[in-house]
Amino acid sequence: MCSIIGYSGVGKAAPLLVGGLQKMEYRGYDSVGVATLNSGKLLIRKGIGKVEEVNKSLGLKEMSGQLGIGHTRWATHGGIIDSNAHPHSACTTNLAIVHNGVIENHQELKEELLKKGHVFKSETDSEVIAHLLEHYWALKNDIKEAMMNTCNRLRGSFAFVAVFDDSTLCAARYDEPLIIGITAGGYFISSDVLGFLDYTDRAIFLDNRDIVLLEGNNLSIIDFDGEKVERTPTQVAWELADSDKGKYAYFTLKEIYEQSHTIFKSMQQKKESVETFCDIIANAKDVFVTGSGTSYHSALLAKHILSKYSQIRVETVVSSEFQYSSELLDENSVLIAISQSGETADVLQSVKAAREKGAKVLSIVNVTTSSLARLSDCFLEVKCGPEIGVAATKSFTSQLSIIYYIADTIGGNLTGISTNRMELSKAIEKSLELESKIAEFAAQIKDAKDIYILGRSNHFPICLEGALKIKELAYIHAEGIAAGELKHGPLALIDKNSVVIILNPDDSTYIDTLSNAHVVKSRGARLIGITNKPHLIYDYCIPIPYVKESLLPMLEVIPLQILAYHLALHNNANPDYPRNLAKCVTVR
Ligand code: M6R
Repeated sequence: MCSIIGYSGVGKAAPLLVGGLQKMEYRGYDSVGVATLNSGKLLIRKGIGKVEEVNKSLGLKEMSGQLGIGHTRWATHGGIIDSNAHPHSACTTNLAIVHNGVIENHQELKEELLKKGHVFKSETDSEVIAHLLEHYWALKNDIKEAMMNTCNRLRGSFAFVAVFDDSTLCAARYDEPLIIGITAGGYFISSDVLGFLDYTDRAIFLDNRDIVLLEGNNLSIIDFDGEKVERTPTQVAWELADSDKGKYAYFTLKEIYEQSHTIFKSMQQKKESVETFCDIIANAKDVFVTGSGTSYHSALLAKHILSKYSQIRVETVVSSEFQYSSELLDENSVLIAISQSGETADVLQSVKAAREKGAKVLSIVNVTTSSLARLSDCFLEVKCGPEIGVAATKSFTSQLSIIYYIADTIGGNLTGISTNRMELSKAIEKSLELESKIAEFAAQIKDAKDIYILGRSNHFPICLEGALKIKELAYIHAEGIAAGELKHGPLALIDKNSVVIILNPDDSTYIDTLSNAHVVKSRGARLIGITNKPHLIYDYCIPIPYVKESLLPMLEVIPLQILAYHLALHNNANPDYPRNLAKCVTVR
């Protein structure tokens, strides 16, 4: 998605805005722009590319003024060109806005404004906000009214910040996150606390239909009808600020390496929350689990783990499809929503659909101030710290460790996650030591056109996850296949150019999966085994250490993450910022 930020205070706005945008760049990196107000004049600089590049070419940080707004874009409406970059002004340059979200009725509004003589300069849906504000401001010369009228005309999801040339900074939110950061010398308003956490941990989390008016040091919050709203400041955890790459070249690599200890943190839950969470599951008539992308793969594993180790029958539905299959839910059902960000639109839509049926909502979420956490009857915290790399890595293994923990709480320690966590952590460390070997191997297969990943049972979701990592990081077509399904069609694709990775650990799936390996080998494919019981059939073997059988999925995903990361480097892709993607997908 996009990131938006505004600042008004005693400091020079531009460097603060650019710094905040850099921290939030995971949300979108197609283009960047900043507008500042200096001596009553608005200056806008914007261009396509990442924050560092655009700052270098346009000197964003040098812009003068103590009031301003900034934006990084993940394009939805209109191509990736300079004119579509935010901030957008209207016909005159007496105001500018930055927007995150989608204005569903933008076409209709644009036609109305065109008839009034407004001239549009971009192909974006966002520009209508600037023109609406301009229109209503001109009508009554009252910014508060202009904000209310504008917000009431918009349909869809939005968070926007507007700067006016009379030195007012305003913002509003509906279904997109927006947070005020309070410092001694001024205020930030941004999409994520990371936008201001270097300067303050005091924050106000705005709600839907909140409008912020900031004139000088005077901050007030009203709703779309103009009623005053009270919002209490909260303190944000400072550890969220831990968003530096440290000694690592990329956030993604750092986050892969963090997993040997992040899996512990996720097991440190409040006792009452775990009890409530597990009671709700144990007493539900039926349990649905949902998530998108990587979090969906966690949901698929939840089905295996909860049914095998705690005898809970679970239905898993990917979030983008959930609304079409929610008829079965009622007030005795429970939906477990899994999400790193807690802001994924498809996940929030599933929650809405479940709520409409009267079902309870539980969530497993990393960002505890997110919409998902707030919409849940009870949530468990993933606690893996900020995940900046667009590809989910540590949040996946931490989500899994919570799922195992829940299964053990309900079923009586059958997965053994708590008792075997040291062993698991050491095994993850050992797998991380294979990085240079995996990097060499990645060089050998970097030109592959297709990579297939096969596995059975609880290894199948890991095949899907490994394939997703290779697709998004290295831009290579990759497919996770349930190994037994090979003969029902996919085998037709296999020839001597195919690269096939097989998850073949020493468990109840070993023999059957090995026989799939033979079938693939006889078609001439290059075969890679990820296993703790190596076999000569494999052209290349990535050895994984021994861990308790139930925990193998958490371990075998590590070499796949490392492989995807190194394939990305070999293919000159930036692992932190895969093309066309954003960390947090708040459109449906
Ligand atoms: O924040 P969420 O866990 O809800 O995000 C869901 C997906 O958008 C996310 O997992 C996405 O697929 C990642 N890029 C995968 O690496």
